[in-house]
Amino acid sequence: MRQAPMASAPDVHICETAARDGLQNLDIFVPTEAKCALIDAIAAAGVTEIDAGSFVPPKVVPQFADVDVVMAHAFTHKSATIGALVPNFKGAERAIAAGVDAIYFVVSASETHNQANVRRSIDEQLDGFRAARAVIDARPPAERPLLMGAISTAFGCSLEGDISEAAVCRVARGYAEAGANEIGLADTVGYGTPKMIKQIVGAVQQEIGAGMTLRLHLHDTLGAGLANAVAGLEAGIRRFDASVSGLGGCPFAPGARGNIVTEDLVFLLERLGLSTGIDLDRLMQTREILSRHIPAKHLTGHLHEAGIPKALRVAA
Ligand code: COA
Ligand code: ZN
Repeated sequence: MRQAPMASAPDVHICETAARDGLQNLDIFVPTEAKCALIDAIAAAGVTEIDAGSFVPPKVVPQFADVDVVMAHAFTHKSATIGALVPNFKGAERAIAAGVDAIYFVVSASETHNQANVRRSIDEQLDGFRAARAVIDARPPAERPLLMGAISTAFGCSLEGDISEAAVCRVARGYAEAGANEIGLADTVGYGTPKMIKQIVGAVQQEIGAGMTLRLHLHDTLGAGLANAVAGLEAGIRRFDASVSGLGGCPFAPGARGNIVTEDLVFLLERLGLSTGIDLDRLMQTREILSRHIPAKHLTGHLHEAGIPKALRVAA
């Protein structure tokens, strides 16, 4: 049974991305029923935004060959925003036809990663975003999904190395001018540091104005994931992507490890006195579903290893 909706919005909004980022890099196909069960368990924990799959060609990422079935199931969770990643205009058309609530379009700050990921230049990729915006705007207002712009490799790239602030700001400006509803800054390979998080968030806000909502999408490759989330909080970010059991990684960005662990992030935020609206005990139950289908070496998480300290259940 779902927990009752919170009377007021939580302090921090978390989008659960295990069903998309979490699965895209695995070399095993997770059965459709298991994907649906994972989404059910995530929704039952009170998560209000779920990145539920990817509209990519099945020959590029076979994991999402069943995306239409999984999405149709995800839509049964009416209290959650159901989103999907799209790599191009065609993906956006498929996502719109499926009826998603939110589209996460990807453009990399690294030209090399953009080419490796979507076989287009950054400018061509932004053209695809503008085309998606136009198609959405031609629909009746009640049938328009949110169009989010994700900036991959915003804090470093395993193919190109350091990424300049200017490169990130250029994509952010492109998104803002094209009418993105929100912009996500993604540490695709997990090279970011707290200092970089503050610098890049500040630079993007200066470039496009503080009116644009920003979110952070963090990977924990080098162990700085939660520290980077705290730096994001200090920079005013209140929207984060995270993945249960720390699953995740881009198949076209070598060396990337998993996303920050949702369970650990929720625990940390609640201990900091920031509400998330997520029931941690229920969220922990997603592990059972995952461990039935995914080898243990892919499943991480400090809370899973340590257990939730009983004395610390109430926010300090
Ligand atoms: N969904 C389904 N089919 C698609 C598609 C999509 N989103 N985009 C393109 N196609 C089809 C085309 O219709 C075409 O089909 P055809 O051969 O039957 O005519 C074929 O795929 C090639 O289309 P094209 O536009 O030339 O694509 P491409 O080969 O240049 O590849 C991408 C571009 C974006 C589709 C590919 O690089 C990709 O899927 N990348 C995935 C990146 C990803 O998932 N990264 C991880 C998350 S960030
Ligand atoms: Zn990611």
